[in-house]
Amino acid sequence: MHDVVHLRSGGTSLVVATDGGRLPRIIHWGVDLGDLPDAALADLARAGLPAIGDSAVTYPQPVPVVAQLPEGWLGRPGVVGSSAGTRWAPLFRDATYSLDGTCLTCDAVDAEYDLALRIELELLPGGVLRERATITNHGDPWRVETLELAVPVPSHATELLDFTGRWALERVPQRHSFDVGAWVRESRGGKPGLENTMLMLAGEQGFGFRSGHVWGVHVAWSGNQVVAAERVPAGSRRLSGAELLLPDEVVLATGESYESPWLYASWGDGIDELAARFHGYLRSRPEHPSAARPVIVNTWEAVYFEHDPDTLVRLAERSAALGAERFVVDDGWFLGRRDDTTSLGDWSVDRAVWPSGLEPLAARVRELGMDFGLWFEPEMVNLDSELAREHPDWIFDAGHGVGMPSRHQHVLDLGHEQAYDHVFGQVSALVDSLGIAYIKWDHNRYLLDAGRTPSGRPGVHRQVEQVYRMMRELTAAHPGLEIESCASGGGRVDLGIMRFAARVWPSDCNDPHERLEIQRWTGLLLPPELQGTHIGAEESHTTHRSHPLDYRAEKALWGHLGVEINLLTASDDEFAQLKRWVDFHKANRELLHTGTVVHGDTDAAVRLEGVVATDASAALYAFSVVERPATWPPGRMRLPGLQPDVLYRVETVHPGVEAHGAQPPWTHDGVTLTGRVLGALGVEAPSLDPDRSVLVRAVRRD
Ligand code: GLA
Repeated sequence: MHDVVHLRSGGTSLVVATDGGRLPRIIHWGVDLGDLPDAALADLARAGLPAIGDSAVTYPQPVPVVAQLPEGWLGRPGVVGSSAGTRWAPLFRDATYSLDGTCLTCDAVDAEYDLALRIELELLPGGVLRERATITNHGDPWRVETLELAVPVPSHATELLDFTGRWALERVPQRHSFDVGAWVRESRGGKPGLENTMLMLAGEQGFGFRSGHVWGVHVAWSGNQVVAAERVPAGSRRLSGAELLLPDEVVLATGESYESPWLYASWGDGIDELAARFHGYLRSRPEHPSAARPVIVNTWEAVYFEHDPDTLVRLAERSAALGAERFVVDDGWFLGRRDDTTSLGDWSVDRAVWPSGLEPLAARVRELGMDFGLWFEPEMVNLDSELAREHPDWIFDAGHGVGMPSRHQHVLDLGHEQAYDHVFGQVSALVDSLGIAYIKWDHNRYLLDAGRTPSGRPGVHRQVEQVYRMMRELTAAHPGLEIESCASGGGRVDLGIMRFAARVWPSDCNDPHERLEIQRWTGLLLPPELQGTHIGAEESHTTHRSHPLDYRAEKALWGHLGVEINLLTASDDEFAQLKRWVDFHKANRELLHTGTVVHGDTDAAVRLEGVVATDASAALYAFSVVERPATWPPGRMRLPGLQPDVLYRVETVHPGVEAHGAQPPWTHDGVTLTGRVLGALGVEAPSLDPDRSVLVRAVRRD
């Protein structure tokens, strides 16, 4: 093994120092450096070594992927743990390396502490980097507190972008300067959460979608976690991430190991390129859905808890007439569930409402040519349920009882094998008997003092493992079964759950004004086909804003389309208009769900987003006005992502009703221009009122 390893893939270079028996140190991660001979690699490593000033901590540069206190690192620690107060300052040395394709593995030991550390760095084909570490104990029990991995970013990454949010308003961006200190975002509620940042980005000043180098990390874990951007006084800038462990949550007996979640890292010249790398990776996985995403009708905002077999059969019939391909019965179907105060945990069909069970509805749905989906919340329990009455000991309790309710519910400790078997058995039996093709898997309460009974020890890590196990075993037992990850909307959006989920529900908010932003930012990680995007009611149920059908439909067009309107009360005109959008989606979904997502760097009052076919033969864009611009008309919209020297025919398309607002002359019969002109200059945008949009199609002219 050379002292410096250079891995290249997908326009990305990763240069790692492996010398001196030390843990791996990333010298460069980002733009492809081309072919470099060994001598140049050695010089590259030397060129980055800093001068050491007076009184400075002489930490050997560059900083390893897992930083160590005994080497003098005074920033966020990479590895923390102890054996009842001893063996608390591990120092891993004698590292050996092996390379398998573009996966570099380092094995190091702390001989004095009887600990071993493995670090894997894998540069995936499209240029996404992922890192993972595994610590193994060979001595007395050793408590793991922290195992945090990091990537360096260069000193010209001066600006940070991360996200916050709340219920029905996930992924609100916040930008700030990358100052000395650590900007830390933590999730401590047993899931990433609605306020989770999902990604931590650092980039060149003013980086946008189309330009400015930017680097970002994501922790592929569905439980407690931390991501941080840290700049230490000595100069290093790093992005890092880890699982957050509770006290004594992971104590390794002799021979036992703890494996960190993967830290995923992507970069780009502009945010679009960074996101495209994530999308490329996700699409390359064998578990990525390969069939066209079926158009869904979901019953939630149509009927809420008011289940009635005749109504739902009629709704299914209207759904089929609309062209829906999947019919999903949401919350309200199980034993005694009339509202959200009872029954979670009792996963059997309520015969009081469904005297013949759900079988007749499921059969009718299939007869109509759709598949059948059902809502579950497998990790949850209401105290008012048969399950809670029979097995109170299955509910988390850290020593003060079951704790605060949230949405009237508590969390079932799936670490109890009997609890796991009980829930698995109930869900699996229904999947069999009803022929369920799709589970909307919800998670509406945070895990707070989630103690295992009877010991009271922390149970969050184990819970996440058991959820993964249940998803894995359910999909293995029922081939073709798809799972949606919902947690009060977008509270569990991560690459851990995405190993099992075919899509996420990014938000309970179907208001297109909000959805534009929520989908745009969730889309930094997930490609459109993995986001559920539904057309909701005229008046949004979460914001009470009203929007015309065309705007609601246009914002839902891009992802895994669904309809959450009560089709039984829709007028004939509304139904016909909706059907035109469903048909338009189906005609374009291959492009939308395989192409490259692009955004314009626009003024705050407008948005430009689109998808360009992978061979750049066609593209679809939406130009939206979100606020009233101070100047009018709004100016040109530049259409990014096309091939510079190819001619494209560009025209507006109106799947719903006719064009809204004042249209510039070119829209009357289209224009033919090169990709270079369209990207650099664009075409004049129509003058639209706020919360209105127009679709623009570009097709390569042969
Ligand atoms: C959560 C989900 C919603 C819906 C309701 C049902 O809020 O996010 O989409 O399924 O539960 O109770």
